[in-house]
Amino acid sequence: MTDVLPGDDLLVSSQTNSAALAATSSAPAHIVAQPRALAGSVAPLVDPSMATMRYQSPLRYPGAKAGLAPIIIDLVEASTRSLGRPQLFVEPFAGGASASLRLAGASHVDRILLADADPLVARFWQVAAADTDWLIDRMYEEPVTLARWDYWRSWAPRRTDDREIAVKCLFLNRTTFSGILHGRAGPIGGRAQTSEYAIDCRFNKDALERRLRFIGDLYTSNRLVDVWCKDWEDTLADVAEYYPQLLPNRVIAYLDPPYLRKSHKLYGKSFDPAGGYTPKTGATTSGWMSNGWQHLRLAEYLRRRAAYRWILSYDNEPELTSCPALYAANRMTPGREDADICGIRRWRITKRYVHLRYTVSGAAVRSIKAELLLTTLPPSCVPVNDRLRELENL
Ligand SMILES: C[S@@+](CC[C@H](N)C(=O)[O-])C[C@H]1O[C@@H](n2cnc3c(N)ncnc32)[C@H](O)[C@@H]1O
Repeated sequence: MTDVLPGDDLLVSSQTNSAALAATSSAPAHIVAQPRALAGSVAPLVDPSMATMRYQSPLRYPGAKAGLAPIIIDLVEASTRSLGRPQLFVEPFAGGASASLRLAGASHVDRILLADADPLVARFWQVAAADTDWLIDRMYEEPVTLARWDYWRSWAPRRTDDREIAVKCLFLNRTTFSGILHGRAGPIGGRAQTSEYAIDCRFNKDALERRLRFIGDLYTSNRLVDVWCKDWEDTLADVAEYYPQLLPNRVIAYLDPPYLRKSHKLYGKSFDPAGGYTPKTGATTSGWMSNGWQHLRLAEYLRRRAAYRWILSYDNEPELTSCPALYAANRMTPGREDADICGIRRWRITKRYVHLRYTVSGAAVRSIKAELLLTTLPPSCVPVNDRLRELENL
């Protein structure tokens, strides 16, 4: 089953679903009422062959970073040699979680923890992890038709812990252009369903069952600790509060925030001032300083208050590495109190361009796109090579 098809582009329909969004806005924060403890050893996977599957995430997520996973694995392996093996790899902007799944499946880290502020996405991962058999059975029952697409677009749960939320997420993600869950993206194949790609062309239930079983396997083997529905800052604060036994040097946070531009069209929760997908026309972010306060909040935290080693990926925007309020600094600069009382370190920030291959919609040839990758892993772990290039302006 391929995840890249020609013609898979954002089409705009007149459908909007803000009522459904509002109704899901307070999903439970954890899979169970309390955060799951780190107790119990990490067990082998029931089916280790799943760790080598080409595609592991059941979601085809807009902005997914599957292409970065091999690079992140190399960084994590290099840092293991100097800092020790990561006890936890936390992904606070989980989305399709492709990097985390690969790290956990192939045992590059002890455990992973996923979190996302979008209740639809977080609930999907919670049910996929802890109620795998139920979700698989439910998926097989579900007809993949235009009528069901209309049903799910207008469906809103009565309870925030409803398992059907996971079905909605999976269904819409696999049947909507570009995997967009919210807003105005239409069904694959269009409303007329006359295209060569029908609404079910990405809904291979057998392939999805394998991927869902992999998520369940990660959870029962204790490799996937928990799934939270939270803002990224709460996730990082709560990891420290719930798991004080973790060593800061052996926790890596991988942050892949929504991009400055267009993210309001892609995600239910974005860094757009409107707070996520909004049906208003012409909504756009025009600059870091005028509209990017959430990006500034993240940058300030990562420069001054982050207790854990971090890896950050972003769209390649020059201001990110030239603006002092973003990531111009080459070293973390915690305030005296954070340094003395909370032990926040002055880790170096290493910056690289990453060249990712991707397929332009409808094009036969693959193109190369530059992403920014910044990290506080020790600089000796971050090589310069054909995949990781130096920034000219440093
Ligand atoms: C670029 S996507 C992540 C893609 C992911 N790395 C992947 O490979 O699929 C950004 C994600 O951040 C989530 N998000 C937006 N605002 C957030 C916030 N304040 N806290 C946590 N997650 C947020 C969105 O719901 C979206 O899933």
